[in-house]
Amino acid sequence: MLNLRPELPGDQTAIFTVNREAFGRPVEGELVGALRQANALSLSLVAEQDGQIIAHVAFSPATVEAPSGDYTTLSLAPVAVLPPWQNQGIGGRLIREALLQLAAKAVEGVVVMGHPNYYPRFGFVTASNLGLRWGGEYPDEAFMALEFRPGFFASRGGLVRFHPAFDRFVA
Ligand SMILES: CC(C)(COP(=O)(O)OP(=O)(O)OC[C@H]1O[C@@H](n2cnc3c(N)ncnc32)[C@H](O)[C@@H]1OP(=O)(O)O)[C@@H](O)C(=O)NCCC(=O)NCCS
Repeated sequence: MLNLRPELPGDQTAIFTVNREAFGRPVEGELVGALRQANALSLSLVAEQDGQIIAHVAFSPATVEAPSGDYTTLSLAPVAVLPPWQNQGIGGRLIREALLQLAAKAVEGVVVMGHPNYYPRFGFVTASNLGLRWGGEYPDEAFMALEFRPGFFASRGGLVRFHPAFDRFVA
């Protein structure tokens, strides 16, 4: 049975491995480590199957620079499922559970840079439609946002800056 739960102290190596295997490189696992070290893992959930961690999702604080004043949101990154377990709904279950937990904690909105075919099923829309932009080069539809409170982004918009830990990893 699949068990979704928060990261625990002994999970760090398994979380690194899930990210490395999913992405085929160490960068995303290192990013998770850097966020953890910076005390910036706002939410870190794992999916466990028979005691093995097979998927992971992380959220960290991001700043939005807006004309009406800066405000804080969360960014979803990274999300990873071990290759043998991909395309079986596990990433989706993990993301939905994470979003439920964040909404219950009164988080008002979340952003993600990712595949535009994947995230809209969770309610994400193109961030530029909510007045948001991101500093780097990217296809417009790859930067997405989800409002738990309608208008949270749209009423202010702004330039989203991910946590500084991303600077070492994102070009
Ligand atoms: C992307 C990922 C987290 C999705 O989790 P998952 O459990 O495999 O996916 P689910 O079973 O929940 O959903 C399946 C859907 O995801 C899509 N999908 C799988 N991998 C994808 C990827 N790398 N990018 C975009 N979509 C992807 C599938 O095509 C499928 O789409 P469909 O439902 O329209 O047919 C997982 O495949 C993964 O770890 N991939 C490698 C790392 C990665 O790319 N992370 C996300 C960066 S944005």
